[in-house]
Amino acid sequence: MASSSSFLMITTALVVVLISVSLSNAQPTSSSRPQGVVLPVTKDASTLQYLTYMKQKTPLVSQSLVINLAGEFQWVDCENGYVSSSNRTLSCSGKECGWISGASCGRPPRPPGFQPCRGFVYLSNQGVFASDTVSVPSFVNGSVTGPNVAVKDFVFGCGSTSFLQGLAKGVKGIAGFGPFQVSVPSQLSLALRIPRVFAMCLPSSTESSSKGAIFVGGGSYKMRPGVDLSTSLTYTPFYTSLVGPNFTSGYYIQVKSINIGGKKVPMVSDNTTFDSLGFMKLTSISTLNPYTVLPSSVYKPFISTFIEKAKTNYNISSVAPVVPFGACFDSSGIFLTHTGALVPVINFVLHTEKAVWTIAGSNSMVKVNDKVSCLGFVDGGELANLVIGGHQLEDNLLEFNLAKKSLGFSSTLPRQTACSLFNLGENSLAATS
Ligand SMILES: *[C@@H]1O[C@H](CO)[C@@H](O)[C@H](O)[C@H]1NC(C)=O
Ligand SMILES: *[C@@H]1O[C@H](CO)[C@@H](O)[C@H](O)[C@H]1NC(C)=O
Ligand SMILES: *[C@@H]1O[C@H](CO)[C@@H](O)[C@H](O)[C@H]1NC(C)=O
Ligand SMILES: *[C@@H]1O[C@H](CO)[C@@H](O)[C@H](O)[C@H]1NC(C)=O
Ligand SMILES: *[C@@H]1O[C@H](CO)[C@@H](O)[C@H](O)[C@H]1NC(C)=O
Repeated sequence: MASSSSFLMITTALVVVLISVSLSNAQPTSSSRPQGVVLPVTKDASTLQYLTYMKQKTPLVSQSLVINLAGEFQWVDCENGYVSSSNRTLSCSGKECGWISGASCGRPPRPPGFQPCRGFVYLSNQGVFASDTVSVPSFVNGSVTGPNVAVKDFVFGCGSTSFLQGLAKGVKGIAGFGPFQVSVPSQLSLALRIPRVFAMCLPSSTESSSKGAIFVGGGSYKMRPGVDLSTSLTYTPFYTSLVGPNFTSGYYIQVKSINIGGKKVPMVSDNTTFDSLGFMKLTSISTLNPYTVLPSSVYKPFISTFIEKAKTNYNISSVAPVVPFGACFDSSGIFLTHTGALVPVINFVLHTEKAVWTIAGSNSMVKVNDKVSCLGFVDGGELANLVIGGHQLEDNLLEFNLAKKSLGFSSTLPRQTACSLFNLGENSLAATS
């Protein structure tokens, strides 16, 4: 692997290129143009991974892929059954290869002739990069799915069958939605000349009938006719490139404090938990973590504040915790509302006091059996940073504006506007088979 500093430089350069892509002339001009494209999302019951579906190759074949919100690009298993007349291996000297942070021509001397674009495809595993045709459903007016649109020369990494270990059964690879030039939303936006904005609405159920959606191209978003969620989002800036102990990149946001049921969670304001601006260090958002991770120093006061408020505000009794959770409760004392269990509301206070990410019962509580529900947050250990994970992202519409580097979020959606209520139509349901 390249040294971490050159890796960082390359990725930082990438981010700069990415920001400079202009959108001003990319607005759809006529009503016949699709607003954007929409990808269905399901949740896998055994891995708790979120899956999306896309057609690829010539002739088109539907495939399922694990969603990695922070991922740089899409990769698929090219070893087992990748047959396509439109597949093209990228040249290491081509511009697309230059967009991929872990790919290059390798060290000289190089043999003469065509050299494939080669690099890190998944973790420390190498492979070549290729391009092929993909096809995704369009959507109109925030609520209607239209015909599929094809994108030629969609760049992806070629993985091996062994890379699929640990991923949900039946998937063919991973789709990356990170703030990178070759991520799925960036490539679709560029090819279709739609805004570099995508919104993710993850489903809260593993039932196959319960599908969420990822919209690429910008709002409106109508889970229910007449209710446009894009008009009621709260916005916070996101950051993409950060130097940690080990270089990482994805979507980072600023969390100043956490309060539960109106009480501020007491945290030691030392420099292991907080950065120099007073925000919790390196707070990121991940679809690969099923539950939000907190550093131990924050987890302990976090759960004790929640337990205290559950008792004093709602007379809910705690019971012995069930792994991996640290705080569990007797379900019989918990009432249900249109935003899930009636428990103390958790607020993440973001870059200003007015930007508050509100987590109601459906995003905080996890039912582990008929008698016990647990607070769906886990202790990541001393060295962990806050990572907002899947359970807290479900039924919360998150809109990432890659051009403005801004994140809009709805917070916990009530049952009437849940992510699974978006009408994906016949078209994209076919893509999931
Ligand atoms: C794509 O085609 C080239 C030959 O044109 C082949 O070498 C390569 O393995 C193919 N890739 C896949 C993913 O099938
Ligand atoms: C989108 O909305 C416009 C204006 O309300 C309407 O004229 C048009 O028919 C709608 N398109 C579709 C595909 O529903
Ligand atoms: C950083 O990377 C090193 C070597 O790859 C690894 O041993 C270490 O655990 C990593 N540190 C963190 C905080 O992830
Ligand atoms: C954190 O603070 C301690 C003393 O309070 C200091 O010695 C240390 O260098 C600081 N670490 C960082 C990363 O700023
Ligand atoms: C609180 O709950 C307990 C059972 O867990 C019940 O016995 C008690 O009466 C409740 N107190 C109030 C004030 O509702």
